[in-house]
Amino acid sequence: MKVNIRSYKTEDTQAILDIINHSILHSTALYDYTVRSYEQQKSILEEKINKKFPVIIAEFKGEVVGFGMYSEFRFREAYQFTVEHSVYLDEKFQGKGIGKLLLARLIELAKKQKLHTMIGVIDSENQDSIEFHEKFGFKTVGIIKESGYKFDRWLNSVFVQLIL
Ligand SMILES: CC(C)(COP(=O)(O)OP(=O)(O)OC[C@H]1O[C@@H](n2cnc3c(N)ncnc32)[C@H](O)[C@@H]1OP(=O)(O)O)[C@@H](O)C(=O)NCCC(=O)NCCS
Repeated sequence: MKVNIRSYKTEDTQAILDIINHSILHSTALYDYTVRSYEQQKSILEEKINKKFPVIIAEFKGEVVGFGMYSEFRFREAYQFTVEHSVYLDEKFQGKGIGKLLLARLIELAKKQKLHTMIGVIDSENQDSIEFHEKFGFKTVGIIKESGYKFDRWLNSVFVQLIL
């Protein structure tokens, strides 16, 4: 499977939006309730790029099948060397090693940007993603219990961390 990892272009916005909105509607991976509009998603992505954070795309046969990004973890100045990242794959393309390519690239970019640590915030029901991160050496450093409420149940946020 020949997958190309490249930087985001505006034309990728709809494909990213489709992946995100599917996740909002059908999973607890994202804690949103309401699907986003094209304009909302475009401005979220542009804001990251304007701040010099990467948004990367996995492309297979010319189709966007996944993406990854990171940006500030929290806004206070002392957090400047810490980022929070995310990786999302189109459901049909999960479990084929593409997430691994995206996360490896994000780690490489974060090191180049002289960042110090990456944080992932993962719903505790998303054991796949927790195990996926563990393969890269991420460690669970905290669980914020019952910090989310979706689909009529309380959700726990698992914080995983990699020191770069
Ligand atoms: C989590 C996600 C990004 C992983 O990407 P992926 O392309 O499906 O994962 P990969 O195929 O690259 O797998 C990479 C490694 O993680 C492991 N892994 C993936 N899914 C796993 C699972 N269910 N259980 C255990 N390990 C798993 C694989 O075994 C593989 O390790 P290996 O190469 O040693 O075999 C992807 O499944 C996804 O988009 N899920 C839905 C959205 C989401 O939850 N995003 C993360 C929010 S924090």
